[in-house]
Amino acid sequence: MTARRSPDAHVDYGPPRYGHFRAASHWMLAGAVIAMLISGFLLVAPMAESDPAKVAVVGMHMIIGLTIALFC
Ligand code: HEM
Repeated sequence: MTARRSPDAHVDYGPPRYGHFRAASHWMLAGAVIAMLISGFLLVAPMAESDPAKVAVVGMHMIIGLTIALFC
């Protein structure tokens, strides 16, 4: 008689390496960094130094970037 596996036998892969919160925050941070890269090249870089809105845009860019760094 050959040994057969029960159809509902569970394979133990061990504990997951990262929890859901870590996995979610990891991908949220990855998305935020990509958004920063895109907005940096498409929004911050093309603005003229003489543009009065540049200070505010770069200021927001720096605050968001530092906040991302805080959670990395
Ligand atoms: C996730 C983090 C960040 C990313 C992905 C990012 C990305 C970028 C990109 C793509 C540019 C445009 C570069 C160019 O001129 O071609 C830029 C510009 C700049 N970034 Fe960031 N940055 C980040 C965080 C920060 C932080 C934390 C600071 C400062 C506290 C900062 C300060 C600046 C400044 C001063 C500029 C130049 C603005 C200008 O005069 O045109 N960045 N960044």
